[in-house]
Formats: sequence, C-alpha cells, structure tokens
Amino acid sequence: MHYAHLGLETPEYYVPGLPVDYVADRYGIPLADIAKLGSAENPHGASPLAAAAVQECLDKLHLYPSWTADPLREKIAETYGFNPEEIICGAGETEILSLITRAFCPPHNKIQMPGPCFPIYHLFAEAEGRTPVLVHEATNRQSMELDVDIYIEAIEADTRIVYITNPHSPSGTWLEEKDVRRIIEACPNSLVVLDEAYVHYSDTPGYIHLASEYENLAVLRTFSKAFGLAGLRIGFGVASKPVIDALLAVKPTWNMGQLQIAGGVAALDDEAHVKQTVQTIVQNRAYVQGRFGELDRFRMISGSRSNFFLVEILDPDTNSTKVFQELLERGVIVKDGSISFRGLHDRFLRCDVNLRPHMDRLVDALADLP
Ligand SMILES: Cc1ncc(COP(=O)(O)O)c(C=O)c1O
Repeated sequence: MHYAHLGLETPEYYVPGLPVDYVADRYGIPLADIAKLGSAENPHGASPLAAAAVQECLDKLHLYPSWTADPLREKIAETYGFNPEEIICGAGETEILSLITRAFCPPHNKIQMPGPCFPIYHLFAEAEGRTPVLVHEATNRQSMELDVDIYIEAIEADTRIVYITNPHSPSGTWLEEKDVRRIIEACPNSLVVLDEAYVHYSDTPGYIHLASEYENLAVLRTFSKAFGLAGLRIGFGVASKPVIDALLAVKPTWNMGQLQIAGGVAALDDEAHVKQTVQTIVQNRAYVQGRFGELDRFRMISGSRSNFFLVEILDPDTNSTKVFQELLERGVIVKDGSISFRGLHDRFLRCDVNLRPHMDRLVDALADLP
C-alpha cells in the first residue's frame, strides 16, 4: 500500500555534489589532496563574525526564536533599504523556493524556468503537483545565454511563477537589468522569482532594488555562498508585503533557529570576508580560464559571472559520466551534467572556481585523461 499522493510514488531527489569523505574512503585519496568542485562552497570557509556569533548564542538554545526571525529580518531590511515586512527568512533559499511553489502556483498550473536550471525549481514543482516548464529552446547551446524574447514568448495564461537566476546556474551567464525588467513587465499576472544566490561573484550590487518597484517580483538571496554559511542554512526573500504575507502563511512556524538568526545578523557585517571571497573567485576565474586554453578536448563556456563554469566535452569518444568518474579517481569532484541538470545531457560538467591549487588540479587531471 502506498500512501503518498500522485507524483510522489516515484520521487526524484536533488543530487548534491559528492562529499570529500566519500571520495577519500572510496578511492583511498588523502583528504588534503581532494579538490571539491561540485558544491559551489566558499573556499575561505565561514564568515568569522558569523561563527563567533553562533558560539555566543549557545545560551539561547532553550528559547523559541522569533517565528519571523525578526532580528535578522530587521538587519536585512536595514542593509538593503527595505521594511522588515518586505523580508522573509528561510532555512536556505531552498526553503523559500518551496514556500513560493505552494503559495503562488495552484496545482496543475505552470512554473516556468530556463532549461537547464537549478533542479530544485522543477523537483519542488513536480513534488507539489505543479507543472514545470523548462524552456530549453531559450538557451543558446554554444554560449548558454538566455534568449529573452523566446523566454517571454513561452509564458502562458496559466504560468504562475517565472524563474530567473542571475548569474544563472549551471552556466554563470548574466542578464542585464533591462532584460530582467522586460521579463517582469511581460507577465504582470505571474510572480517573477529572481534568484540571486551567486550575485556577489558578479561583482555588482545585483537587482535587489527592483523588489521595491514591482509587485510581481521576489528577489532571493542566500548566506550559503559568499558568506560561507551553507551548513547553517540561511536564505531570504525580498518582495512587496502582500507577497511576503502569503509566504508567511505557508511557512513552518519556527523555521529559523536561534543560531541561524544570530549567524545571519553577524554575517551581514562581515564585509572583509565577503570582499576576500569575491576577490579570490574573480581572480581564479580568470586564471582557470587562461589554463583551459591549454586543453583541446575540453571547452570552458566563457563569460561566467559566478563561482562555477560549464565545461563542454569536445571528444566524441567520451562523455560526462566517464569524465566525472575519471576525475573522481584523481581526487577531483565536479558535477556530471547528465545527472545534475535536466536537459544538459552528457556533454557537460559543472566545475567550481576555488583556490588556485584546486584549479591546477582540475586542469592537470583533464589534461591527463586517457
Ligand atoms: C541557483 C541556486 N539557488 C539557490 C540555491 C540554494 O541555496 P541555499 O543553500 O540557500 O538553499 C542554490 C544552491 O546551490 C543555487 O544553485
């Protein structure tokens, strides 16, 4: 007897990047020799200010936190120039994506996203009985850039949510503000979700300011990347008060613990850590691009504004699963496009930008493949 509702009988789950312990155990490689380039984590670790605040908060563990994470909401509002009522906090952006799916798309209506994209968008849609529409034809297969006209044309009357990821994942491609505005203005009856998880690495302030201009826009950000707090689980959304009120109604009441709230508040003051992280990514992104010039069987898709990039496998005699496996055996963890991103197929890998020795290990391992 199966008790789950239709669609959950054969569930599909998110495939995360492999952990270092698994690769160390499986292939007998010392931990220090593994290049972890499949989860887009911060090479400099957690924000030290956030880590200290979490330590100091341990005496609050017996107390229920504010159910709307008010200290963090207020800090985010002050930092980015919004009212606290225009902010929602979640256990990572991932939780907010789940709330948006439930609050803004009735069952059987459509949720539009670029193809390929961050898989959580379509996995949550399917799990909740909503219809994901991946607009593969809007993605140029050479540059991986989004054709905004084709993307807009795909929006239908029952499309209730339209995703934009900027910089995009898995490609790192970038949309100009005028193009983001065109998409928002083309669908006044849909909620546009602008996912800016990786915006720090674009070295621009991003488009969070648009949330005060458009009532059909929610801008999402995470503390998992530039602040280095992926293990703490903090994300937030900025939108008009009616949008936030609807999300609060479906939010699990105490979704943010005391440690997340304290860590998030402190992280927003840690400009030095963010600056150092962005500098490392921007410099090493240029460095690894230079090194890819040495390879003739692999092409880096240039133009990434993020902390990862796509690699196209030019050699017809191999594929992403084989290369992924061969890299693992050499202590390099990346993402296999064919299992990590729907519609990317077996010609691509997604690799993180990280410290320079890891970039060298990746390029040297690719050069060394049989
Ligand atoms: C595009 C994109 N959005 C959101 C997230 C989720 O971030 P969080 O850790 O805040 O849930 C990720 C994580 O990898 C991502 O790639």
